[in-house]
Amino acid sequence: MASVSASPEKEKENGKPSEEAAEIKVKKEALGWIEWMMGWFYLAYEMLFQRIVASNLPNPMPLPPINDLTFVVTGSTSGIGKEIARQLAEAGGHVVMAVRNTKAANDLIKKWQEDWSGKGLPLDIEVMELDLLSLDSVVRFAEAWNTRSGPLHALINNAGIFSIGEPQKISKDGYEEHMQVNHLAPALLSVLLLPSLIRSSPSRIVNVNSVMHSLGFVDPEDMNVTSGKRKYTSLVGYTSSKLAQIMFSSVLNKKLPTEAGINVACVSPGIVQTNVARDLPKIVQAAYHLIPYFIFSPEEGSRSTLFAATDPQLVEYCESLKTEDWPVCAFINHDCRPANPSEEAHNVETSNRVWEKTLELIGLPSDAVERLIEGEQVNCKYGSS
Ligand SMILES: NC(=O)c1ccc[n+]([C@@H]2O[C@H](COP(=O)([O-])OP(=O)(O)OC[C@H]3O[C@@H](n4cnc5c(N)ncnc54)[C@H](OP(=O)(O)O)[C@@H]3O)[C@@H](O)[C@H]2O)c1
Repeated sequence: MASVSASPEKEKENGKPSEEAAEIKVKKEALGWIEWMMGWFYLAYEMLFQRIVASNLPNPMPLPPINDLTFVVTGSTSGIGKEIARQLAEAGGHVVMAVRNTKAANDLIKKWQEDWSGKGLPLDIEVMELDLLSLDSVVRFAEAWNTRSGPLHALINNAGIFSIGEPQKISKDGYEEHMQVNHLAPALLSVLLLPSLIRSSPSRIVNVNSVMHSLGFVDPEDMNVTSGKRKYTSLVGYTSSKLAQIMFSSVLNKKLPTEAGINVACVSPGIVQTNVARDLPKIVQAAYHLIPYFIFSPEEGSRSTLFAATDPQLVEYCESLKTEDWPVCAFINHDCRPANPSEEAHNVETSNRVWEKTLELIGLPSDAVERLIEGEQVNCKYGSS
């Protein structure tokens, strides 16, 4: 769907110059119906055929040597993130569980150490507090991390919410909660951790995204979906946040010069049986658990992220996508193969506006990334309280 933002006549009335008035800007206001249908098709296809498409993949995923590598995994107390953290630690990586429920994470570590005892050296795993519903908490986490001056080889932005059927909720920072937890807060974390990632390069930022981004549409002037132009549903909130994440990641990947040694990838884990459906009505949850043939276990769902976080060939692939004319970052499918995100994710103009708007909303200057690459300090509006 498209609308004409201003007619030449209207602009003449407003006294604007005639050349400008002749320019008719067409603003897309929603996905076209073909894009919408394709989005549902991709989702249904993934749901029905993911097991067949990924049948070549071993489970669990064998990992390359990662003994001297450090990983930060957000939302690692449950579902896919829990599996990612455990498997990286068991493969010898140093893992930092960045979580809001630190007690749950410490209990998990205790259990994993007990299960692992006698199989090798104790797991090198620790917990740090991070609540993505608070941008102050994100800044505090990044400051604490950067102060340690330790290495960081992969930031895995896994934590996410999908409050299915719930009414719209606005965080205390003033943002729609899906947009904040799934996009804005991980974007802030990624930018603020750039100094550590640059110091440890080659390094990566891996965002756990979703096939459902292809049902998303982002209006950069209405990221909260509060203007009334679009009706809010939890589906709109979730899918928009996932699309915004791909758009932001694509611009970030391009802005990071090859010399910085950091690459950005988004990942689809597949349809996975986790707590993500915790807000569904009990009866739907029961049905969800009855279709295990189609749905991946968290271990199966962790494979594409583990691949994106550790596979040595991914670096070359991501670098090749930094070329002038390719508009999107790497998107790794649930079968660990590169895939193409939705047509809307290729919209360069909107991606650039999402980039600018995101930096504004997370309280960073528009040249934050360039300055951090140059080794300069950057101030964020958040983090003082
Ligand atoms: N499951 C699927 O079918 C599927 C499909 C596509 C994409 N994904 C994506 O996969 C990622 C992981 O989801 P999952 O399926 O594993 O769901 P999950 O079991 O619900 O796990 C989500 C994790 O995110 C954490 N989290 C939620 N809000 C947070 C906040 N404000 N601050 C910090 N951590 C927070 C949760 O912590 P608490 O335990 O403290 O709540 C939990 O550890 C998400 O990004 C999701 O969108 C999932």
